[in-house]
Amino acid sequence: MPKALIPGSFDPVTFGHLDVIERTARLFDHVIVATVANPGKTTPLFSLTDRKEMLDEVTAHLPNVTIDAFEGLLVDFALALGVDAFVKGLRAVSDFDVELQMAQMNERMSGIATLFFPTAPEHSFLSSSLVREVARFGGDVSSMVPAPIAQRLKERFSS
Ligand code: PNS
Repeated sequence: MPKALIPGSFDPVTFGHLDVIERTARLFDHVIVATVANPGKTTPLFSLTDRKEMLDEVTAHLPNVTIDAFEGLLVDFALALGVDAFVKGLRAVSDFDVELQMAQMNERMSGIATLFFPTAPEHSFLSSSLVREVARFGGDVSSMVPAPIAQRLKERFSS
């Protein structure tokens, strides 16, 4: 029963993430989408609970996908779950340097390889950070994130 793990901050989940999740769910028996409790970069806009809830909502149509969260090293979490592969999306060459480094580090530590999906061209410009910025200033994000996420962003920035 091959099992894939898609890790990320998902702050919030975008159509680009969802595309990678859907394509992975067609190839693996079980897909775990795991959001990191401590992204480390900046304080997340959405709490861990909110990010998990949003992932649950937008993947409800995918029966072999489960949502989880982890704190600490990704490889520790993955080894405990018996994961066979990590899956990440690659938007552009600019993603490649850091993603390759993380993939090699993770494989060195755990023996678990990372598979990359080239992001669909219509989503290649999307990032959670840009979505947050557009939403913060009242821009329309309906083509960038699923409707329930656009609604949550609207609520977050109207208060
Ligand atoms: O969506 P992101 O922010 O690009 O995801 C990055 C993430 C969460 C996959 C990465 O930061 C991570 O794995 N963090 C957990 C800590 C860890 O294992 N760090 C070593 C990576 S080689």
